[in-house]
Amino acid sequence: MKKVKIGVVGAARGTSMIKYSAEANNTELVAICDIREDLLNKHREKYPDKEIAYYTDFETFLNHDMDAVVLANYANEHAPFAIRCMKAGKHVFSEVLPVQTMKEAVELIECVEQTGKIYAYGENYCYMPAPYEMRRLYREGVLGEFEYGEGEYIHNCEPIWPGITYGDPDHWRNNMYANFYCTHSIGPLIHITGLRPVSVVGFEGIRTERDMRCGAKKASLGMEVITLENGGIVKSIHGDLYKGSIWYSVYGGKGRAESSREDAECDGVQTIHVNVDEFSGQYDGKHLSTYKPEMAVDGEGKGFGHGGSDFHTMYNFAEKILGNPEADIIDVYEAMDMFLPGMFAYRSVLAGNMPMQIPNLRDPAEREKWRNDTACTDPKVAGDQLLPVWSKGTPDVPAAVYEHIRSIWEEDQKKK
Ligand SMILES: NC(=O)c1ccc[n+]([C@@H]2O[C@H](COP(=O)([O-])OP(=O)(O)OC[C@H]3O[C@@H](n4cnc5c(N)ncnc54)[C@H](O)[C@@H]3O)[C@@H](O)[C@H]2O)c1
Repeated sequence: MKKVKIGVVGAARGTSMIKYSAEANNTELVAICDIREDLLNKHREKYPDKEIAYYTDFETFLNHDMDAVVLANYANEHAPFAIRCMKAGKHVFSEVLPVQTMKEAVELIECVEQTGKIYAYGENYCYMPAPYEMRRLYREGVLGEFEYGEGEYIHNCEPIWPGITYGDPDHWRNNMYANFYCTHSIGPLIHITGLRPVSVVGFEGIRTERDMRCGAKKASLGMEVITLENGGIVKSIHGDLYKGSIWYSVYGGKGRAESSREDAECDGVQTIHVNVDEFSGQYDGKHLSTYKPEMAVDGEGKGFGHGGSDFHTMYNFAEKILGNPEADIIDVYEAMDMFLPGMFAYRSVLAGNMPMQIPNLRDPAEREKWRNDTACTDPKVAGDQLLPVWSKGTPDVPAAVYEHIRSIWEEDQKKK
């Protein structure tokens, strides 16, 4: 069987895609790139017998003989790297988020169109068992027309903040706005329904003690109320509330499907509750079915992160490259359907919760308005369109906060 030759950029979160590429039947891991030698060394130790090239310089890495690149570098830097890779003839798998500005969104879409390379957005939460089963039920017409849905991705990251930001004041996690990291909650609803988001109203939570202790300049919570093209509504929340939740719910014209709440101790997104009546409005309480959906090629997914979903994103990416017509990837247009609601939700927050239209970048004519829009919270990219990280103004975080986080990280490093 032909194997897709894969190189991975970013050897922290990238560990999961490195594992897939090294162990799966349809891929071969040929190169890893990270600016951190210590992370590269971990992989050298894990795979002493494999022929893997290690790079600290991305441009040199890009010359390596490979079919595809997995981007697990900083969340706000994926688009320029993806464009470099596709122009160098490689297919791209991008971790979340796809872009950080509208200018990048236009450039990324046009690069995919011009190069004809495969771009797959790695929104793994779409491939968790319950939301993926909702997709099957919805696409088979079991749920009826989409009317309302909810997505939640709540993760209190305070305990792991030293490990994922190393006390770096400039790390993207300290400088993203509340609505930025939105595709774990929005993405599954888009992948289930296939409907395009057309407008959004955004909200932002409070800045909590936890945010201040971590040095995160954003508010703790982002929320989006999104209208889809059929008039159906999605409510999405994501951020660092104290108690975690990964949860999805879809109401259609024939009933409802939802994943299990974590507090129900029923294995969360591994479990689905389907409550469907054949004819709308004839609920007699006898149609509830609770089960653990099996994924296609499920056996191989066991042992992979995020409930096995990390397996399915990579499996489908490799299959797509190999020409399997069944391969289910998230393409660049769908990636924008998942991300732009968060980007425009923050513009809504900044405008006092005014509704915002979500541009349809499938239409080349609509791209012109956004081609020079660099508005974001990254000073390196925004130029004179810099946005505050918090709607009330980017807070000044005392240096001592980052020094403290850094010292925790350094202590943890010594123990490893
Ligand atoms: N889908 C998920 O469930 C999930 C979970 C965690 C992280 N992520 C995403 O994965 C990505 C990486 O996150 P992370 O947790 O590893 O933290 P991170 O963003 O701090 O790590 C990025 C890694 O890329 C390396 N890197 C950055 N620029 C580079 C360059 N120019 N050349 C080579 N290496 C470079 C860094 O040294 C670091 O090891 C982010 O996009 C994040 O959003 C996704």
